[in-house]
Amino acid sequence: MRNFILLGAPGSGKGTQSDHLVKAFGFTHISTGDIIRDNILQKTPLGILCQQYSEQGKLVPDDIMIQMVKNHLQTVTGDLIWDGFPRTIVQAEKLDQLLHKLNSKVDHTLYFEIDETKLVARITGRLTCPTCGQTYHKTAVPPKVAGVCDDDQTPLVQRKDDSEEKIKIRLAAYHADTAPLIEYYLHQQVLTVIDADMEGPAVWDQIMEVLK
Ligand code: AP5
Ligand code: MG
Repeated sequence: MRNFILLGAPGSGKGTQSDHLVKAFGFTHISTGDIIRDNILQKTPLGILCQQYSEQGKLVPDDIMIQMVKNHLQTVTGDLIWDGFPRTIVQAEKLDQLLHKLNSKVDHTLYFEIDETKLVARITGRLTCPTCGQTYHKTAVPPKVAGVCDDDQTPLVQRKDDSEEKIKIRLAAYHADTAPLIEYYLHQQVLTVIDADMEGPAVWDQIMEVLK
């Protein structure tokens, strides 16, 4: 089992590139944001605990998040793409421990560096498929038929935390709690910076350079 972490601010393209990696290599995608939204939809006890945090743009507390990841890890196999986890130093240390128990480790971290002035337009233009989780952008990455998922034809929706007001809160959480992970993985010598400002296939080309 290999483990690749996608690290970056909200809207930096983690979900978009995860979809490409799944389609190209059959990696297993672990998006903690998707897991949380799924739990909220199904009204599970953990979902009910998370709802107030995630819909407000705040981080879910580490103990709840780690429990969800532990549960999920038991259900997956293959090489893993970690999208949105870890998001704090506590989570990163816990992930190292969990993987160690599985005779595994973090193989590489791709840090999506982006000019923050681009993020609001990217996030407020995002459309998500509630069935398969695929993301689009109204103008930059539009679906083939407006408002409908290419893969399963479900009507696309906007996420509850994708308003300008919530984006400010999410960015503040990113700077306070998640950005220190850049140093954490640099120190472990498992981090490459990806220029995530670029449009079209340019981001994917950089990822291929790292994974080849
Ligand atoms: P999560 O769902 O992980 O959201 P996020 O990190 O805020 O990131 P996003 O999903 O908004 O952005 P993305 O980087 O995936 O960008 P995307 O590819 O969609 O988490 C949501 C919430 O859950 C958190 O706020 C928190 O409450 C909670 N949570 C989750 N994990 C947690 C954890 N570990 N601990 C605690 N709490 C946790 O792209 C964005 C848009 O840009 C799309 O429209 C896309 O089409 C477009 N786009 C992408 N790439 C390009 C490009 N190159 N050019 C042009 N447009 C592009
Ligand atoms: Mg995402």
